[in-house]
Amino acid sequence: MKWFENWFDSKYYQILYKNRNQEEAKLLIDNLINKFKPNKYSCFLDLCCGNGRHATYLNKQGFKVDGVDLSDKSLNIARKNKNQNLNFYCEDMREYVKNNKYDFILNLFTSFGYFETKQDNLRVIKNSCKSLKINGYFIIDFFNSEIIKKNIIEKEIKIINDIIFKINKSYDKEFIYKQIEINDKGSKYTFTEKVRLLNKSSFIDLSKGLNLRLEETFGDYYLNPFNELNSDRLIIVFKKINNYE
Ligand SMILES: C[S@@+](CC[C@H](N)C(=O)[O-])C[C@H]1O[C@@H](n2cnc3c(N)ncnc32)[C@H](O)[C@@H]1O
Repeated sequence: MKWFENWFDSKYYQILYKNRNQEEAKLLIDNLINKFKPNKYSCFLDLCCGNGRHATYLNKQGFKVDGVDLSDKSLNIARKNKNQNLNFYCEDMREYVKNNKYDFILNLFTSFGYFETKQDNLRVIKNSCKSLKINGYFIIDFFNSEIIKKNIIEKEIKIINDIIFKINKSYDKEFIYKQIEINDKGSKYTFTEKVRLLNKSSFIDLSKGLNLRLEETFGDYYLNPFNELNSDRLIIVFKKINNYE
């Protein structure tokens, strides 16, 4: 199994990242709505929606939303809020395509760069481009590679709900690694996150030759401008400019 197939589907992922909550989702979604002003018929895809924190809030604001994720455990949490305008599908982002369906595709909180090959990352961008309507937006919220390397905390211990998480982070030229050793009342597990160190030019490179135009880059959930030297996030916004292959 690949790391992203079992780690996100484990109950420990939800526990370790429980501060990535509804409140944080609301902040980003409110700011995106304010900036891009979707109309009431706009259709959204939350690609890699996890437990649906962004999708659910967007739907509560009146929009039609599909959520896609590989983790059934996360989707089961998301599906508690399912309704006729909020649907969830268990699919791999490398495979999911719905031609010209969406006005907005969101890929939020570092849900990109998990694969070994450039071709697989490219497939996600190509599928998203096909799935967008013309003038639709593809918004990717990724880490700022420079800052993540600069501020790396190599060793850290967190205790949450009496579970001990020992976290070791490192990086090489291509990836950042987060090894998570868990001790849950004597039962031990190890997971490793491995995410490609993509930067703004890597995303531009991935979009080359596609019908996508780089529109904006933001550096945080308040949508301040991106600055490689000090922004926490790299939020990259592409617009689909036409439908030609
Ligand atoms: C860091 S989490 C972010 C989840 C959500 N966007 C959020 O902000 O809470 C990454 C998500 O990507 C999903 N994922 C990982 N690989 C995937 C794949 N190949 N296809 C679809 N989803 C995938 C995981 O299951 C996980 O829910």
